[in-house]
Amino acid sequence: MTLTPKKRDELALKQTKSKLLPISTQDVLAGLNPQKTIQWEVAHGNGDLIKALDILGIAGPMAILTPWELKDTDGRHLINAGGYAALPFGEKYPPLVQFIKDYLDHSLSVSLPQQSATDWRAALESNLIALLAAQAPSHQDSQVFFSNSGAGAVEAAIKFVKAARPKAKHFINFRGGYHGKTVGALSLTPNEEYQAPFRPLMPNVVTLPFGDSDALIKEVLHLGPDNVTGIILEPIQGEGGVITPPLDFLPEVDALCKKHGIITIADEVQTGLGRSGHWFASLAAGLEPDIITLAKPLGGGMVPVGATIARKWIVKKALGGLESKRHSNTFGGGSLAMAVGLKSLELIAEENLVERSRTFGEKGLARLYELKKNYPHFVKEVRGEGMLFALQLQPVLNPRLLPGQAELVRQLGTALALRTLHMSGVHACYTLNSNRIVRLTPALNMPEDIFAEMFNRVEQAASKHPRAWQMLPKTPINSLLSLAKLALRP
Ligand SMILES: Cc1ncc(COP(=O)(O)O)c(C=O)c1O
Repeated sequence: MTLTPKKRDELALKQTKSKLLPISTQDVLAGLNPQKTIQWEVAHGNGDLIKALDILGIAGPMAILTPWELKDTDGRHLINAGGYAALPFGEKYPPLVQFIKDYLDHSLSVSLPQQSATDWRAALESNLIALLAAQAPSHQDSQVFFSNSGAGAVEAAIKFVKAARPKAKHFINFRGGYHGKTVGALSLTPNEEYQAPFRPLMPNVVTLPFGDSDALIKEVLHLGPDNVTGIILEPIQGEGGVITPPLDFLPEVDALCKKHGIITIADEVQTGLGRSGHWFASLAAGLEPDIITLAKPLGGGMVPVGATIARKWIVKKALGGLESKRHSNTFGGGSLAMAVGLKSLELIAEENLVERSRTFGEKGLARLYELKKNYPHFVKEVRGEGMLFALQLQPVLNPRLLPGQAELVRQLGTALALRTLHMSGVHACYTLNSNRIVRLTPALNMPEDIFAEMFNRVEQAASKHPRAWQMLPKTPINSLLSLAKLALRP
């Protein structure tokens, strides 16, 4: 059949309208079949991760019920303690959603103001500095560089420090520290699993025990203070399993670095802006860093924002004068991200969430201590700082039963714990640098009844498995074998 040109055009237009892409935005808004979603993710995304989560029965996709509650595909009600500390207000918090609608309707700022000043960025920069300078007045003329992730914020910090101390060669970091997975940040994240395949990384990184100021002083003197470019640390190690150093550690780092002019970077991507119960955990613990990295909560759980705050003289060395484009990125400082960042700061301040994180953190930690006391064969250790909670479980298997696979056994323990908590109605976080630890990072504004119910459910999970190994038989053996196979694959 030959088509008239008019008919052909009409047909082409119809096809274009109905199916420009195999899966349209309308298809997704209407809701995809969950099995298809998993299938496509396995085929074209980070397939093995999704496969492992699917085997555990926790792959979702999950739906938002309220900012603090989710529903999985079996209709199970979940309290959301996941989000890796990046959900300060939970999911789609109505005041933030309304603000974003207002922004889209009313703001005339260009989206990516790479070659112009912009009101949203100016306001966020000024507010971040005001917040910091209120506690550390020497930062009143510091400057902010924006990126799109925590790792991006750390990358900027590394380059700033290198430019500021060009003759020094060594970075000092700490065991258990986590700073991200881009190459520079990964070089400062001393985790064999993450680093090994990507070597050589940035050279001359010296890793010391976290919290040991004697070891630090000794090493700085050994290297020669002028050879130390900078020291990077988390004031509380998040991905390390919520590890707080001894009280005198950060003040000693502060004194040492001030004495020798060594630059300190406090990586507050996880602890900063309220999660730890303080605006800045480093300042609260006696360290006045030269550079602070921020990210997670700054995006309000809606957009990616990373920020590197640094003293003016340091920024000048890296980006001063004609060198102002020596470090840049396309999307950093975009207006929507800046607007959401500003609104997030405003909500944290208005709703008194820093203080709330501290008081709720104390209540939550008390519940965890009770749990440890009542179920010592399920829980080995508990820790908490503000709304950052860690549960270290007893081993599910004796690693000696699988020689050479101790790490796998530990990972299996964490995976089973995540599954067990999920089945009890709590969506929890994996801990990247520390196996057998699961973390709870609830929203800073989680209502009190939901917060209490979250701990009730953790307790229910423990009461069903008074000994950690009892999580094993309740897991279908095929699931365990598939999971182990997946994890063991070279
Ligand atoms: C302290 C710290 N720094 C850096 C990062 C990396 O952030 P991102 O995952 O956004 O790159 C994280 C992430 O967990 C973190 O906890």
